[in-house]
Amino acid sequence: MATTAQLKLDDKEYVLPVMVGTEGEKAIDTRKLRAETGYIAYDQGYGNTGSCESAITYLDGDNGILRHRGYPIEQLAQNSNFGETAYLIIYGELPNAAQRKAFGDLLRQHAAIEPQMQAIFQGYPKDAPPMAMLSSIVASLAAHNPHLATNDFEKDLKNFDLAAAMAISKIRTIGAMIYRYQHGLPYIPPKDIPFCDNFLHMMFSEVYKDYVAAPEISKAINTLLLLHADHEQNCSTSTVRMVGSSAANLFTSLSAGICALSGPLHGGANTAVMHMLQSIHDEHDDGTRFIAAAKSGGKSNRLMGFGHPVYRNFDPRAKIIGKACEDVLNKLGINDPLLAIARNLEQAALKDDYFISRKLYPNVDFYSGIIMRALGIPVNMFTVIFAIGRSPGWIANWREVAANPKGRIYRPRQIYSGPVKRDYLPMAQRG
Ligand code: SDX
Repeated sequence: MATTAQLKLDDKEYVLPVMVGTEGEKAIDTRKLRAETGYIAYDQGYGNTGSCESAITYLDGDNGILRHRGYPIEQLAQNSNFGETAYLIIYGELPNAAQRKAFGDLLRQHAAIEPQMQAIFQGYPKDAPPMAMLSSIVASLAAHNPHLATNDFEKDLKNFDLAAAMAISKIRTIGAMIYRYQHGLPYIPPKDIPFCDNFLHMMFSEVYKDYVAAPEISKAINTLLLLHADHEQNCSTSTVRMVGSSAANLFTSLSAGICALSGPLHGGANTAVMHMLQSIHDEHDDGTRFIAAAKSGGKSNRLMGFGHPVYRNFDPRAKIIGKACEDVLNKLGINDPLLAIARNLEQAALKDDYFISRKLYPNVDFYSGIIMRALGIPVNMFTVIFAIGRSPGWIANWREVAANPKGRIYRPRQIYSGPVKRDYLPMAQRG
């Protein structure tokens, strides 16, 4: 394997170092490119550019591989739960019994939202987009916990364990409170029960009376959150790292990640998938017309829940969620016509050369909405669920940035394409 790369520019030869990751990923180290050649590298959207070294998640898009700290997602989905996987992603190892208990205790101790923070909710219209509420209320955690949000890496890392547990727990509770607020229902305080059961309790208690999650419901929400826990340098995680690189505190950086996740090309896709499936159902289409429109190109016609910036094979999470979908609906005795439409779309697209040639497969968002709908979660809350699930990944990435002694503020360059130098024109000469 090459250890250097040779670059010939303007009749000069340059030698650039090559980096190799623990899974054999190779990179040309261009950190000195501009200083040595006067050239920058150009990669719109950074699809071919590594912004960092990270030990958290490994993705192999060509082979549909996803591992957290070396553990395959299939094994974690089968054997673990959201709390344990969150610990693994943040701290790098599966917790022993004492560590698991201490982490769970912290999550439960910091589950509630204090009255002064509760007052913030009243400042929003009842029909505000839930992600707009979530990003701003999470940002206020920095205002309500300034001792954990000093914007000094050394001080904030000293309090990291508390801030991390508080963030994961309160993002979950804020999500449930947004649902209650928007439905005119009273807030339900957290109980001393497991993380996911507590979420469902704070969302639905009247419906389930003295709520105790049925095992299959608890397993479904655990699996859903676990499968969203981290995903390498996706748009929102890279945003958290970029904001954190300025020494902004954890809560502020998480709020930025929530903003990035809200876009329909990223975390908003699960919502867009459900709207797509519902409109196909309402038009009594079997998906044929929709696929024809999707093949016509254009970002507005896309088959939502299909395609991925990295996977050129099945998103392994989609396979797991697709199976969990069947299990949950069967156990709950729900016959959701949208599942049949999704299966039809998947089968049709996987035989269609347009999708095959572009290596477009179902991604994590294609089936997740059907499970959430089966659990009674409204469509406009789907991306909030994604954010609750992704919080451990964001937190682990923020910690890598904060703890990196050689870390630098993210400051990409550009190729300028605007007007060249020109002189100021007085108003009278502007035509
Ligand atoms: C997530 O990064 C992550 O890891 C993200 C995520 C995570 O866990 O954090 O996995 C979560 O964001 C999953 C993706 C959710 N988004 C969607 O499902 C929205 C629909 N998908 C697309 O918009 C698209 O596939 C993206 C945005 C996901 C990826 O876009 P790329 O890699 O930039 O692909 P592209 O836009 O360059 O498209 C390549 C070609 C184009 O056609 P041509 O110009 O070559 O003719 O594929 C076509 C696109 O038009 N295409 C699609 C399509 N996705 C791409 N055509 C129809 N339907 C689609 N879904």
